[in-house]
Amino acid sequence: MKASFRDYFVETFFAADPSEFDRFSESLLARRPKTFRVNRLKTGIETFASRWRARGLPMGPTMNSWVFSAGHERVKLWNEPEHLAGHLYVQDLSASMSVEILSDGQIDETPDLLILDMAASPGGKTTQLAEVYPNSLVIGNEFDKSRLPQLLENIERMGSDNIAVTNYSGAFFSGAGEIFDRILLDAPCSGEGIAHKAPESLDYWNIKNVRKIAAVQTRLLRAALDTLAVGGNMVYSTCTLNAMENEGVVESAIAGRMDAFRITYDHRFWPHREETGGFYICRIEKMASTRDSSKDAPRWHGSPHIAPAGQKTLAAMRTFFASVGAVEPETWDYYCNDERVLAICKNRKAGTILDTWYLLRFGKRIGTMENGEFVPDFTLLRDITSDAPRYAMSEDEYSRFRTGEHLTTSETRFENGGHVVAERDGVVVGTLRANGSILENLISKSLKKR
Ligand SMILES: C[S@@+](CC[C@H](N)C(=O)[O-])C[C@H]1O[C@@H](n2cnc3c(N)ncnc32)[C@H](O)[C@@H]1O
Repeated sequence: MKASFRDYFVETFFAADPSEFDRFSESLLARRPKTFRVNRLKTGIETFASRWRARGLPMGPTMNSWVFSAGHERVKLWNEPEHLAGHLYVQDLSASMSVEILSDGQIDETPDLLILDMAASPGGKTTQLAEVYPNSLVIGNEFDKSRLPQLLENIERMGSDNIAVTNYSGAFFSGAGEIFDRILLDAPCSGEGIAHKAPESLDYWNIKNVRKIAAVQTRLLRAALDTLAVGGNMVYSTCTLNAMENEGVVESAIAGRMDAFRITYDHRFWPHREETGGFYICRIEKMASTRDSSKDAPRWHGSPHIAPAGQKTLAAMRTFFASVGAVEPETWDYYCNDERVLAICKNRKAGTILDTWYLLRFGKRIGTMENGEFVPDFTLLRDITSDAPRYAMSEDEYSRFRTGEHLTTSETRFENGGHVVAERDGVVVGTLRANGSILENLISKSLKKR
């Protein structure tokens, strides 16, 4: 650990008791218990807990009632069927608090809010926003193209139907107008709070670098504040602890327009005090317009590749739903992207964003049109209620299924073909298609175990 890191923290935070720095730095580098969030759109805590604990898996309480500790045991959470089923997301406890603070710890069922997650990948908080604001539309934006696959995969796995994905620099939204009711800016940062994952990072700590990152963060936060609706709320968060990337950024971003904003929450999670990773959260409310009418209007791209589903597609899809005794969710509207069929949670903002941004994802993909027939996606029978027959996989079958292998069966009940719900340990994980004695595995490339 560099001496300049110690000097900065002692001087800025621990001047009254420099020995606190030792407790802080020891705790900063200590391994944290693994934590995971339970997806409340998919399962109840009691149902989840009874299956989980019946298999001897660890699940202890934390300060967030939807986040649980798996302790220090080396459990491979992503191997459990609940992971593929989208019932859980492995997420740091302190990181889970940004969305908790934005929503005041409540599920907000207000319809038609427009929400921006400005720096979204890998999607822990995007999918959390989708859970906490189930009737709203969440734009998950990620600038770095190489980080998009992870974001798209996590949204697919969690089964969210109210997320659209864009690929812009966050600063792009500055000229979008004051349109977002809620914004999360979980900013790229120097990562001091997660130094336990890469202790060597503290050997390279350098104040010039911190200042450079703070300048980027200020630009992003200014853009977020510009596009926040009057009366709307946003959270700025980082997984770093120095003041330059936190309070300093907030101060610079609202400088000169203090009357328009009010800070309603401001907290630093110190690892040695709260036994979490290091994290900073600031919630800001917009009280008055800051619109700058002299700003150039941004170049809009629109999404002409996505259009409302036509009658033929809807009819084919409904024929499929009827064939498996499925209840068509009342909350969905349907769109097409070429032959792909998309479902999105009904929302009055959905149509407007199609004309505005280029979308890499819009709602969830539920199937594909092939020769006039609707062919379901892997996640469809996982995410809707149906009377389709179920197939309970053995442990060995499940591990082969995760790699994309088809299964074979001698059971006569699948002889007539059709689609089958795949289950493991009582958890519905996806869709199979019966073809003679073969149960074809429809798992997508992105959800396969690599
Ligand atoms: C701390 S991570 C976000 C983690 C995410 N919120 C989550 O909970 O999974 C910050 C993200 O910001 C992205 N980023 C970097 N520069 C950006 C920019 N100019 N605009 C938007 N995102 C940016 C990074 O690629 C990174 O994925």
